[in-house]
Amino acid sequence: MSIIDEINAQKKEKNAVILAHYYVSPEIQDIADYIGDSFYLSKVAVGLKEQTIVFCGVSFMGESAKILNPEKTVLMPDMSADCAMAHMADEETIKKVRAEYDDLAVVCYINSTAELKELSDVCVTSANAVKIVKALPNKNIFFIPDRNLAHFVAEQVPEKHFVYNEGYCPVHEQMRIDEILHAKEMHPEAEILTHPECPKAVLKLSDYIGSTSGIIDYAVKSECQEFIICTENGVRHKLEQDNPGKKFYFTETEPVCQDMKTITLEKILHVLKTGENEVHVSDSRRENSRKPLEKMLELAK
Ligand code: 13P
Ligand code: SF4
Repeated sequence: MSIIDEINAQKKEKNAVILAHYYVSPEIQDIADYIGDSFYLSKVAVGLKEQTIVFCGVSFMGESAKILNPEKTVLMPDMSADCAMAHMADEETIKKVRAEYDDLAVVCYINSTAELKELSDVCVTSANAVKIVKALPNKNIFFIPDRNLAHFVAEQVPEKHFVYNEGYCPVHEQMRIDEILHAKEMHPEAEILTHPECPKAVLKLSDYIGSTSGIIDYAVKSECQEFIICTENGVRHKLEQDNPGKKFYFTETEPVCQDMKTITLEKILHVLKTGENEVHVSDSRRENSRKPLEKMLELAK
């Protein structure tokens, strides 16, 4: 039996379903039942009929799935797969900003620990942040943890006052301008498609800015035949599958999220067989962090 047959047999036996983010390796994307960006995956996680969810992504994703589905078993193929940015805010600063501003909403990018979500008013993803911030009644917005996404949203919602936090994604932060310009020189017809976790100087060069799903949808619809992609290189798989004939270039130093890439077929099979690496969130933390997640799902409709 091949490992893929074994995974499928285990899935059936354990009544399990596999969710995967676009940044995981192609062979994992190929066996997933649902694949998408953070927003899509958080929507899908609600209302699945299977009892067990195997989440091929980083810890905040599995944690969010568990918070939204307390009665389900959520398994992570690799417990050490974490998002560095998810930890880049702190309770003390949140309290300080809350004390300083009236009429404030703490807006928490979903790439954050449950501990941070618990202290926030609403969650957002890169796919819905602008819509949600616009819909909030509050004048002042403290956006955690990502400063780059915060600045991107602030530009599109000029009527609000933003307080920034110094978090960032180490993968997107390292996109090199000289390498993007070099790629553009080599492929002058190519459109530059960028994730809003990139710094402002990269966004300024871009033809389109959006979440991973946004980038994939844009490439399908565009008349253009060539693209320079400024996000993690896992999206190449879906871009090439959906766009035969179109060309996708990355910068010379390809952006790779090592945490997403720790997930392997062997690890998926192992957790299915053993039930190891189950996600646990305490009752009180789950109750408190569920509210901002549910508010996001409601406001993003
Ligand atoms: P999206 O899934 O919202 O595109 O975000 C990318 C990311 O960094 C996920 O960790
Ligand atoms: Fe976190 Fe960046 Fe990896 Fe996304 S790409 S999971 S934001 S470290």
